Amino acid sequence: MQTPHILSAWQFNLEEILDIFRLADQMIAVYEQGPIQDLASCKGVINLFCQPSTRTFSSFEIALDSLGGRMLCSLASYEASSFAKGESVEDTIRYYCEAYQPQLGAIILRHPTTGSAEEAARVADEYGISIINAGDGTNEHPTQALLDLYTIWKRRNGNLDGVKLAVCNDLAKSRTIRSLCLLLAKNFRIHLIATCAPQGTSSLPTDLTRELLDYNVSICSTSDLREAADMSEFLYMTRPQKEYYKKPEDLLAFQDFRVTKEFLDSLPAKNPCLIMHPMPVDSVTFNEISPDAKTHPRCIMFEQARNGLFIRMAILKKLLCPN
Ligand code: CP
Repeated sequence: MQTPHILSAWQFNLEEILDIFRLADQMIAVYEQGPIQDLASCKGVINLFCQPSTRTFSSFEIALDSLGGRMLCSLASYEASSFAKGESVEDTIRYYCEAYQPQLGAIILRHPTTGSAEEAARVADEYGISIINAGDGTNEHPTQALLDLYTIWKRRNGNLDGVKLAVCNDLAKSRTIRSLCLLLAKNFRIHLIATCAPQGTSSLPTDLTRELLDYNVSICSTSDLREAADMSEFLYMTRPQKEYYKKPEDLLAFQDFRVTKEFLDSLPAKNPCLIMHPMPVDSVTFNEISPDAKTHPRCIMFEQARNGLFIRMAILKKLLCPN
């Protein structure tokens, strides 16, 4: 493909990642000083979200606004789009590109189908329009991985070598786990990823496991959160992705698997483990981070989510106005 797209964590090399992180650092001051006209003369963006989102949707909107860019149109649900009437990804993207090409620079797409971002990119490429994958089914969420890693990078004062990570809970269906593991394994000297999931649930998908092993990452599995916390500096909790499970009984094993304040208070001071979560936490069914743990000093998920704004400002600036 000729046009720059953001489709997978797989596509980034070390230099590109650090470039985005340094630009994101600069974006903090840009945001605090108020909207600038940086992207005013650049092409605009369409936000096309066909699955629920709070953070990714909002932070892309606010990132663009903070840079003085133009959001040409925002669609925030599957039901509100013609996908609900059976329209294909190809036809939707081709419509946007054909109709708005002179003013359109990028389409940000969240869609329930694995591979939809790549399919969109094949069409958008014909028009020189970028696709940003904001989550495609259980496959990938690359901008989330960048903000997750940016959070770890900042907490570790800019050094990611040897980072010890535990990925937890819904290992099989979490696109954020897949993207984060790929980004880390490909670019940094990381020897071990601990996986921690309740007994009776699936482990990492086999293709992801194979890719990690190819990068000489050891995978250590446990179903004990304490053991995972002992092995890691960052314990990355995830939400059971209930929208992808057909039978309610498949979700039963996730019921009692959670990080609580009691658990965090019981970790010894010499254990540096911090709790991350891409959010949203499912506060209705699972409470995988219990209410009393969400503002615990070890839980940095709101800091992590806030970093999404600066990473997405950096990404939009690079894609829409690279020079
Ligand atoms: N982490 C994440 O993608 O959050 P949203 O679903 O709120 O966008």
